[in-house]
Amino acid sequence: MCGIVGYVGKQNAVAIILEGLKRLEYRGYDSAGVCVEKGRKLDVVKKTGRVDRLAKEVAKSRLSGTTGIGHTRWATHGGVTDANAHPHVSSDGRFALIHNGVIENYAQMKKFLLGKGYTFKSETDTEVLCNLIAYHYAKEPKRAKGPSRFVESVRKTLRHVEGTYGIAVLCVDFPGEIVGARKASPLILGVGDQEYILASDASALVSRTQNVVYLKDGEIAHLTPKAFSISTLDQDDVSPVVDTITWSVSDAEKGAHAHFMEKEIFEQPTALENAMRGRFSADGSTAQFGGLNITPGEFREIERFMFCACGTAWHACLVTEHLIERFARIPVEVDYASEFRYRNSPLHPRTLFFVMSQSGETIDTLAALREAKRKGYRVMAVNNVVGSSIAREADGGIYQHVGPEVGVASTKAFTSQLLIGAMIALYLARMRDMSFSDGVEYVEALKGAPDLVRHALKQAPRIREIARKYAGYHDMLFLGRLSLFPLALEGALKLKEISYIHAEGYPAAEMKHGPIALISEKCPAVFFAPKSEIFSKIVSSMQEIKARKGPIIAIATEGVELPKGVADDVIPIPDCHEAVLPIVAAIPVQLLSYYIAVERGCDVDKPRNLAKSVTVE
Ligand code: M6R
Repeated sequence: MCGIVGYVGKQNAVAIILEGLKRLEYRGYDSAGVCVEKGRKLDVVKKTGRVDRLAKEVAKSRLSGTTGIGHTRWATHGGVTDANAHPHVSSDGRFALIHNGVIENYAQMKKFLLGKGYTFKSETDTEVLCNLIAYHYAKEPKRAKGPSRFVESVRKTLRHVEGTYGIAVLCVDFPGEIVGARKASPLILGVGDQEYILASDASALVSRTQNVVYLKDGEIAHLTPKAFSISTLDQDDVSPVVDTITWSVSDAEKGAHAHFMEKEIFEQPTALENAMRGRFSADGSTAQFGGLNITPGEFREIERFMFCACGTAWHACLVTEHLIERFARIPVEVDYASEFRYRNSPLHPRTLFFVMSQSGETIDTLAALREAKRKGYRVMAVNNVVGSSIAREADGGIYQHVGPEVGVASTKAFTSQLLIGAMIALYLARMRDMSFSDGVEYVEALKGAPDLVRHALKQAPRIREIARKYAGYHDMLFLGRLSLFPLALEGALKLKEISYIHAEGYPAAEMKHGPIALISEKCPAVFFAPKSEIFSKIVSSMQEIKARKGPIIAIATEGVELPKGVADDVIPIPDCHEAVLPIVAAIPVQLLSYYIAVERGCDVDKPRNLAKSVTVE
């Protein structure tokens, strides 16, 4: 939800900011803007539409300078207009500000500022924040020593703010300086060679430096051309910890692929290898995790698990639930993070809480984590982005290690969550009743997952053909059972988010309790038909659909016999262990959705109305 970049240094800030915005565009693409400070003037160019459009406007206006800020917007307050695009400038012309987040008490602050003579050009909460800084600045005495008037006016303003923010601010009276701050919206400081960059995530700065400081909630960063300092809202100085990003700029580029989603689908074998590296015990019979900060003894005391997440990560939790209950025989509950945070549901006292989040910044998941901690529960995180809010606030965690996922539709993050879920189930099962030999078999199966995924990916040309056939439909059902019911949900989500085809996921046998009413030759159904003890039941459901003229695409285990004529198209998947099946079954639905979206001419990596990381409620 919105991407921000700020640059202080000796280079052309505009080019660096535009490059950063391009990489952050997945966070929002309603409008974009840039502001540079030059000769005690703030020059702003902003426009609705994508960063490419902004770049053309910037070139026309010959914007240049060595200090600047830029923003790509996912609209919350106010429509998609040039006026609502960021940066916003205070009505006295002294400050320019970019913002990611939501200022909840903006209406009362706006009323106050209107009474004081401040004026507004937009409908945004951000412009209110900018004017409030100007208001505090006007009251702030000039200082010869200590924190500058600029920093203090931002600090005072933020003390009055309710809501979430990642901000970067310029002030005409402090050339070459930026003040940034965060609360519940990510903000990273890149420490380069005679330059500093603030950004919503590392992809925007990794081409210039791999040394970063992950700012914490309530921290304020002050950048000057020669140094940076960090302090808190309470004016305490913070000693910064400089971390190193372990991936490089090429990991955040799509290379020869047409879309990031395509690249990330085909990266999955390697992503899975990275996610499992070093995570099996020396005797090869169980999983091991370095960062959980919980002893085996404490683990054995756990009687229930609670998993919370949103979207695709929630589907991964549902698969994990199935595997933990099946192999470790421990009850698991899964909730939408957005519901859990308000539901006040009773929890068993010996519950271990898990959240899953690729970005680690999803506000609902973060709030669920905080709510569980507030109730005194220990919370573990499965998370991909190192140093994210969720990673920092969790009591322990497992990093996914799949590198940056840029496509809005989650793919490699999903399968690595499935893998980690399967490893958690194994770890718990081996602590209880799973035998050594079953453990070894399970581990070998997981180690074989990358090759099975490579094999499943070979169906891409065939799936592309099938996608051509089905791209014109308006509705689709995805049906699966047991561990593949969540895959049916995921298939439907993938299809609707990138191709805008209405799709529903159901447990296959539930279909006859309502959704079957939708079936006709105009509503195809995608069936998961793996080899299993309930294969014949799945075939019966397929026949019920066929009897009503519904076209069927079957994702079936290689070699299983489907009755003649029951499926119109078959996508084979390799036979595999139950713990690996959901990972392998994810591949055809990802490819099918991808190729259908391409066929329909959709903007696959930037689907309408969506953003990669949802940092607003
Ligand atoms: O970063 P997170 O894993 O917390 O994101 C959760 C969802 O917003 C995300 O999975 C979303 O559903 C994806 N667009 C699905 O492809």
